[in-house]
Amino acid sequence: MNPIRIALLGAGTVASGVVKVLERNQEELRRRAGRGMEVVAVAARDPEKARKALGNRSPITQDFMALATRPDIDIVVELMGGIEPARQLVLAAIAAGKHVVTANKALLALHGNAIFAAAQEHGVMVAFEAAVAGGIPIIKALREGLAANRIEWVAGIINGTTNFILSEMRSKGLDFDTVLREAQRLGYAEADPTFDIEGIDAAHKITLLCAIAFGVPVQFDKVYIEGITKLQGADIRYAEQLGYRIKLLGITRRTPAGIELRVHPTLIPATRLLANVEGAMNAVVVQGDAVGATLYYGKGAGAEPTASSVIADLVDVTRLHTADPEHRVPHLAFQPGALADTPILPMDSIHTAYYLRIHVRDEAGVLAEITHILAENQMSIDALLQRPSGENDQHTDVILLTHETEESRMNNAQDRIQALDSVLAPIVRLRKEELR
Ligand code: NDP
Ligand code: HSE
Repeated sequence: MNPIRIALLGAGTVASGVVKVLERNQEELRRRAGRGMEVVAVAARDPEKARKALGNRSPITQDFMALATRPDIDIVVELMGGIEPARQLVLAAIAAGKHVVTANKALLALHGNAIFAAAQEHGVMVAFEAAVAGGIPIIKALREGLAANRIEWVAGIINGTTNFILSEMRSKGLDFDTVLREAQRLGYAEADPTFDIEGIDAAHKITLLCAIAFGVPVQFDKVYIEGITKLQGADIRYAEQLGYRIKLLGITRRTPAGIELRVHPTLIPATRLLANVEGAMNAVVVQGDAVGATLYYGKGAGAEPTASSVIADLVDVTRLHTADPEHRVPHLAFQPGALADTPILPMDSIHTAYYLRIHVRDEAGVLAEITHILAENQMSIDALLQRPSGENDQHTDVILLTHETEESRMNNAQDRIQALDSVLAPIVRLRKEELR
């Protein structure tokens, strides 16, 4: 049988990994997919740079649209990133009857519903394993391996850049900017690294996991997002003294009232496997009602790990492209007509536990005032530390861990504590999850 014909849009980090792995493993891939896979052309805006990145193998064009819709192409692989022109190219490829493989989580988080609907209409597949957690086959696991389960929650370290930064800051005491530059040099960071450090990239990914886990549309506009840029070294150290590590987690959880969907720095017990995921590694825990907790761990970024997922999608599409579209795995795991309208909860309705660092005047009665306010809001304390702030003998840091409560109660209590005369600086508040 003739090889399946692939067009690559973009010739950067991931594209170079795809070309390399396709070439290195071509014989093995042919045996898996049942036919060969050939990159027949690449679209890049700078052909010279692309030739260097890819090793001058396939013809290079600057006309992205012509390649995305060329009649002899079977699969268009979008590895440009960003929203436009990627969105128009993907939609044009779908309209021209091409299957699409993409690693573009930003595009799918914002426009996934329209893209999947267009793919459904034209009977083609849009595969996106590489869009979440790089080389970890988490989409496949959630959509197929765990299909028997009612998923209860998903929590993951799904941004390699921020995990790398947090790990290096904690273990080597390096500063934020130095580590960020190193993550960029290693090819982990997005073209705009604010997407990584402000939690937006993780939010794109958890939005996709949420849709697949619970059978709801993709709803990026409903995610609560807090990145790591305001995190201070003092809190990383205090958390450690209390037996916790701070990780940027994407969390989505089914509750009787709706679905929680959030990204924020989170204290997790240092003994949890997730707390020990270091460097650019990613890990996702999925809690299903039948299987219990399962953990997926691996490289979340980089040329070849990401290529591993892109090529797994290419193998899937090659195997299935002649199958009846009605009998393929649905894009969002649930049949398109069976998506639920379960609401995404506003942030003040979520339930979690908290870490508070309160910089106070060191005098009698201050702690009593704080604990009184927490008690009035039906919040109970799990652990407490008091540490000299180092700046002034009469000032001290009070560090509190609470038990789980509704965020609205915490907001109310925090506002009242902040207003006390004895509280001398803005309270630092982080969320804490036991992940039981
Ligand atoms: P790169 O920036 O390394 O490569 C992107 C490629 O697309 C470059 O060839 C770039 O051209 C081209 N490109 C970008 N924007 C345009 C545009 N507007 N018009 C024409 N060409 C364009 O990105 P990556 O390979 O790292 O990422 C590709 C995709 O994979 C992104 O969606 C990313 O989020 C995703 N991803 C990346 C991972 C990683 O580890 N890097 C991991 C998982 C997913 P030029 O060189 O001229 O800028
Ligand atoms: N910038 C992303 C990260 C790449 O650091 O995880 C993988 O999606």
